[in-house]
Amino acid sequence: MSNEIIGKIKETVELAEKEIKNIKNNDELEQWRIKYLGRSGFILSFTREISSMHDDLKPLAGKEINKLKKILTGLYEEKKKEIDLSYVINELGHKKEVLIYTYPGREPDFAYFHPITIITKSMINIFKKMGFGIWTGPEIETDYYNFSALNTPENHPARDMWDTFYLDYSKGILLRTHTSPIQIRTMERFKPPFRIIAVGKCFRKDAFDSSHSPVFHQMEGLMVGFDINFAHLKGALIYFLRELFGAEIKVRFLPAYFPFTEPSAEISISCVICKGKGCSTCGGTGWLEILGAGMIHPEVFKNIARKEPSYSPDKITGFAFGMGIERIAMLKYCINDIRHFYNNDIRFLTQFRLNLGDNNEILL
Ligand code: PHE
Repeated sequence: MSNEIIGKIKETVELAEKEIKNIKNNDELEQWRIKYLGRSGFILSFTREISSMHDDLKPLAGKEINKLKKILTGLYEEKKKEIDLSYVINELGHKKEVLIYTYPGREPDFAYFHPITIITKSMINIFKKMGFGIWTGPEIETDYYNFSALNTPENHPARDMWDTFYLDYSKGILLRTHTSPIQIRTMERFKPPFRIIAVGKCFRKDAFDSSHSPVFHQMEGLMVGFDINFAHLKGALIYFLRELFGAEIKVRFLPAYFPFTEPSAEISISCVICKGKGCSTCGGTGWLEILGAGMIHPEVFKNIARKEPSYSPDKITGFAFGMGIERIAMLKYCINDIRHFYNNDIRFLTQFRLNLGDNNEILL
């Protein structure tokens, strides 16, 4: 009996080898697998025969069947590789020597949001929670919207604060130096009360160094109504800054000057790097200045009231604020050079994949 099964096994190996040599594709190989290794294939029928053998012979027969199984599985795997490889070589036209087909594929280059977009989205999100709407304005402005309407008439010394790119000086056409002209444009368009933020590119004839860029982004805020006061301004900005930088930060308001706000304030947060102890980022002061703000100057309201009487300064009050987005992104993400934002170095940009989080869900 045992000789008989050993003989049969030998025959099976020969037959299987002969058959598999002629196999050219996966369908044929599958038929072969079913015939030899399948549920009613050779291996299992041999295994079933063992039960009718004499006990002394069982171990030997079992061993032989296992050997057979190993040989057949080996043949199968060998052939499978050969078919797959020949498919790749013939059908996909690759050369055998350069193709290592078990290598993982190349990771596709996904597009990610730019860090400026990411921080802008989180900033917008915070103001949305406070009921602010979102508005925009043109990058090419007139000197009326950029300066005069903002209580900065020609020859006013404050015009020196923003070295301006003029597109046509004689016509007063320029690239906006800040997002504040959007204050004027929204007030001309909407009656009070309302509150909006606006984000956009601004342009100044600044040097291009680690903390300045001739093109940068600002976020402007404006809230106008019938009884808006400085406490509203403080409340909104402290909430915003704590949401963005963490509840533990301190916020400082110092008197400042802007022609279009009175009183004006310069707002700083306790240094996010050294937590207020003093370091190179905060110049040893423990504070980082990040916002300009104030109550809308009555002269600004007067300029609007000429077209839209509901803005008469004895009826209406409001606050405005403005901040540089690059500066906020630099502090939030510990970026030490503003030029990183514009160099399009893929190694820099892909670092922000992980920072997407919820921001990914909000569209501008
Ligand atoms: N526009 C000012 C600047 O660019 C910032 C600002 C906006 C200040 C609104 C007060 C109110 O520096």
